[in-house]
Amino acid sequence: MFDNITPETLRATGSVKWTSFPGTIGMFIAEMDFGVPPVVSEKLRERAANGALGYLPANMAGDLREATAELMERDYGWEIDPGTVYLYPDVLSTMRDVLRHLVTEGPVVIPTPAYMPFLNLPAEEGRELVTVPSLIKDGRWELDFDGIDEALKDGGLFVLCNPWNPVGRVLERAELERVCEIVAKNDAVVFSDEIHAPHVFDGEHIPYASLSDRAADHTITATSTSKGWNTPGLKNAQMIVGHPFQATIAAPAGLIERQISTVGVESAIAAYRDSTEWMDNVKAILSQNRKTVTERINAIPGLSTILPEGTYISWIDVSGIADRVDSVTDYLRDRGVALTPGADCGPGYENYVRLVFGTTPAILDEALNIIEKAVADVD
Ligand SMILES: Cc1ncc(COP(=O)(O)O)c(C=O)c1O
Repeated sequence: MFDNITPETLRATGSVKWTSFPGTIGMFIAEMDFGVPPVVSEKLRERAANGALGYLPANMAGDLREATAELMERDYGWEIDPGTVYLYPDVLSTMRDVLRHLVTEGPVVIPTPAYMPFLNLPAEEGRELVTVPSLIKDGRWELDFDGIDEALKDGGLFVLCNPWNPVGRVLERAELERVCEIVAKNDAVVFSDEIHAPHVFDGEHIPYASLSDRAADHTITATSTSKGWNTPGLKNAQMIVGHPFQATIAAPAGLIERQISTVGVESAIAAYRDSTEWMDNVKAILSQNRKTVTERINAIPGLSTILPEGTYISWIDVSGIADRVDSVTDYLRDRGVALTPGADCGPGYENYVRLVFGTTPAILDEALNIIEKAVADVD
């Protein structure tokens, strides 16, 4: 299905991933190299051909709320009322509105390593950020539950990212239950980013708010087609809002709904309803890629990584070479692979890099060959 994809065809598409650092293989941003599901390209072509690029009709917005609810029930057994789904341009704008309108006091508590922009948003909104470094236990990344409990002692917003960018964990029910206990005890609120839910390889995705009525009532869930279906440029995300927040969010959400794109909404409806075959093919490649990255990185002296259970991201410990080059990401980028510096994912992660493996096995091999040789060449 994805046989003709090469670095040259990808550069020709002009994406951020493939043009930001000319001559490199782009692995620093969570985009995939598999295009979009055929049903999405058809819808986009059809609309453009018909000149149907006007404002978003209310019935289409309603249809996306329905399609989101159908997806949640079909894929995760989570029954939601489509009326609790609000449409936003992207996940960051959902979190911004949560801070502006729903959780206006208390710290923003974020376990690290974390998706980079989450860490900048609290300051942009004049709010206190508290990062809670996570732990590696029995070879797996884990939330530091005691640290989270302490950080939430005055309430506030807890930012959960599950599946977890960048470490690739898929949290188990017992872990989510523990978060729920802590949040309820401290009278805090959860912002649950579940954008990577389509890509789970080990375990199952459990929507946090589906745990119980108690969890649902203290949670705002954000999702989008942007990661799973590779459409971040189409600017549309969905926010599923717990009952106690609905009256407050309705007005601001109504204003922001004017900023989402008609083609984005139509594409999301199609993606959620009709893209199983494409998704299965993508998942098969990603699942193999995560094993390839893990095996090959762990075979390179000085580097190590843990098999991701979900997402298309690997989080790599480079401490074995970090003291011998000024910057591991600059060094590897000069050699031809562009990765994310670990420090962008939180304080204390200077000796990590983030690698996005949403690409073909051939391109992944080429990138790993470059990394292997570059590390061997470090004096
Ligand atoms: C965990 C996570 N949340 C949110 C986003 C951003 O998604 P969007 O562009 O739809 O806001 C990303 C993008 O990489 C992500 O990895």
